[in-house]
Amino acid sequence: MNISRDLFQVEAEIARAWTLPARLYTDAEIFAAEKAKIFSRTWQVVGHASQVANCGDYFTTELMDEPLVFVRGGDGKLRGFYNVCRHRAGPPAEGCGSRKLFRCGYHGWTYGLDGALISATEIEGVEGFHPEDFALKAVRTEEWFNLVFVNLDPEARPRGTAWASCRDRRFHSPT
Ligand code: FES
Repeated sequence: MNISRDLFQVEAEIARAWTLPARLYTDAEIFAAEKAKIFSRTWQVVGHASQVANCGDYFTTELMDEPLVFVRGGDGKLRGFYNVCRHRAGPPAEGCGSRKLFRCGYHGWTYGLDGALISATEIEGVEGFHPEDFALKAVRTEEWFNLVFVNLDPEARPRGTAWASCRDRRFHSPT
């Protein structure tokens, strides 16, 4: 969708500024465009560092209907993953808390805090099965000022680089 600039006016003079039209908040088509162009491609805050202060601490959440889990690994690194088991898509983690590993409630596949598949039930004897091919799928995750950020776009620029270019950009009123 092309969001026409006629929908709203950007007024450089704050004294003449006006609120955005209500349609921008209620139109399903605009929301779909926001999801595709903004929320699925830019850095979004999903939590606070206090939720993952210690090794093993984790929390789950959703962004754009994508189930996610964030966990502080044994190496102290914060990682984010799609909270989707590589077996049949059950959730390896639920809610929040502290764990040494994640065990999917459906059939018991077990993952390390780094997302690696540790054990897989119902797979014994299957030729050509390589556990390293079935790690939890990672999402871009960064910490900044005690906030946890995620970007669903694997090609996204690092948060700092993306925001620096926004800061340097000049905004003009539509002509
Ligand atoms: S869906 Fe997770 S173990 Fe089967």
